[in-house]
Amino acid sequence: MNLRYQHVLQPLELAGTLQLRHRIFFAPMGVDLADRGGCFTPAMFEFYRGIIEGGCALAFLSNATVSPHSRLQEAGLGLFEARQAEALRPFLAWAEEMGTPVGVQLQHYGGQGTTCLTGSPVLTPSGVPCPRVSRLDSDYRVRIMDESDIAGVIDDFANSACLARDSGSRLVQLQASNGYLLGSFLSPHTNRRTDSYGGSEANRARLLLDVVDAIRQRTDDQLIVTVRLGIDDCLGDEGLHFSRLGETVQALNQAGVAALECSMCVGATFGRFLGYSEEMDRYLQEGVRHIKSQSKVPVGYAGFIDGLDKAESLLARGICDWVGMSRALFADNDLIRKELAGRSSDVFRCRWDGKCFGDKSDPRMDRVYCCVNPKYLRPQV
Ligand SMILES: Cc1cc2nc3c(=O)[nH]c(=O)nc-3n(C[C@H](O)[C@H](O)[C@H](O)COP(=O)(O)O)c2cc1C
Ligand code: SF4
Repeated sequence: MNLRYQHVLQPLELAGTLQLRHRIFFAPMGVDLADRGGCFTPAMFEFYRGIIEGGCALAFLSNATVSPHSRLQEAGLGLFEARQAEALRPFLAWAEEMGTPVGVQLQHYGGQGTTCLTGSPVLTPSGVPCPRVSRLDSDYRVRIMDESDIAGVIDDFANSACLARDSGSRLVQLQASNGYLLGSFLSPHTNRRTDSYGGSEANRARLLLDVVDAIRQRTDDQLIVTVRLGIDDCLGDEGLHFSRLGETVQALNQAGVAALECSMCVGATFGRFLGYSEEMDRYLQEGVRHIKSQSKVPVGYAGFIDGLDKAESLLARGICDWVGMSRALFADNDLIRKELAGRSSDVFRCRWDGKCFGDKSDPRMDRVYCCVNPKYLRPQV
């Protein structure tokens, strides 16, 4: 028994059926390597092969858009057509053989999507634009969702979840954080509706819960549903705050969601989530601990977790039940293997400079690169 990492190495069961061999997961990180039809490519297979062979217990495949009318990156993944599910199938089968389940993150970009890639206005609860995307996209237009838009989005998520199941996935993660559509309904900053989808906390959570219900019904409960839950916009009093999410967490537990992955910030405040500060790190832990105290299902998060020592400490202190890393594993795919083998000094450490995130909107970059990982070092431009 490895005593140094005894909490990290505890297995975790999700939904009573999915066994994870330890507590570390790869948090979703869109590397923008899909083809122009949104299909999974050999380059993506190569990327995730590195992540999975590095020893995480579960990997999230990021940002599969549920609708052709909601896109952000030209090379972003899609999951709204059968051919996209077919393209995923060999990879998911290989990952299962490796003993590492893959959760497909289902995404609707909402107001943080673009108009220039789809020709359609972006869907929003109340027409509040995203300042960041509106600066980058000269066509940017918003639409306030009516009842039929809401029904359409619920159907898009359910359809996409069925495609995930058909492609061999046992688990999906609903992206309900960071200012994207489901997260924007949760937040009083972007959701100013006066109908049954806005106003009270229960009303703001309604769309997310309707999506969970629709997925469970359409997949005959054959798919595990987890939620990446936005717990704080970092917008002060007018935004979402973790202390005002008790009803939502309880309702998600009751709706059969198997686990939560917490996240903070929206497009306008995401910079705070990228550059390391002790203050933000502490705030994140405080928020996640609070959500865990309200939840019966496992709660995890990603944010500034640089290796197994920190993961062990978070688990031992009861901050969370499972631990996500995205940039730390992007910077060194083999971090987990190396640290378990006592080779910590060989790890390429993330610098928390956020440059990988900058690549996503830098027209000179054809994908997301890293400052330290020799497998995909950022070219000098
Ligand atoms: C380049 C990059 C791409 C990301 N893509 C996604 C994504 O597709 N979906 C998502 O939910 N979060 C995404 N994130 C956020 C990460 O999941 C994570 O929450 C954030 O990076 C903080 O965790 P970390 O400190 O371990 O990197 C991305 C982050 C980065 C840096
Ligand atoms: S580009 Fe920078 S912030 Fe991103 S993973 Fe690499 S070292 Fe970390």
